[in-house]
Amino acid sequence: MIYSDKVIQHFKNPHNQGSIENADTVGEVGNPSCGDVMKIYLKIEDRIIKDVKFETLGCAAAIAVSSALTDMVKGKSIDEALEITRQQIIEDLGGLPEVKVHCSMLGIEALHEAIKKYEKKD
Ligand code: FES
Repeated sequence: MIYSDKVIQHFKNPHNQGSIENADTVGEVGNPSCGDVMKIYLKIEDRIIKDVKFETLGCAAAIAVSSALTDMVKGKSIDEALEITRQQIIEDLGGLPEVKVHCSMLGIEALHEAIKKYEKKD
């Protein structure tokens, strides 16, 4: 399987990896096709994502996607963050091997889950 240079860079040196202790919301999803799990922590102020971190038990593609996604959402409003598509992330990463496309959904689903929970609390 061939990964783009950008995927390999993100995988070797993931951005925003870890957890946020006093996060305003956390989204967690599992990938039914491989059993991997993704968690996204958000710190939100005035509907702006001030900080974001992720933890994953996942493959290289899932890590690279989360790293790129968390870079993209930082500083955005939660409405803007919800508009980010899987295609945008895949393009930002210079493509993903076809068999890894399902992995790219994990980060987005966890982000949506976290925002959904936050909106319910508000
Ligand atoms: Fe599980 Fe990629 S193989 S997230």
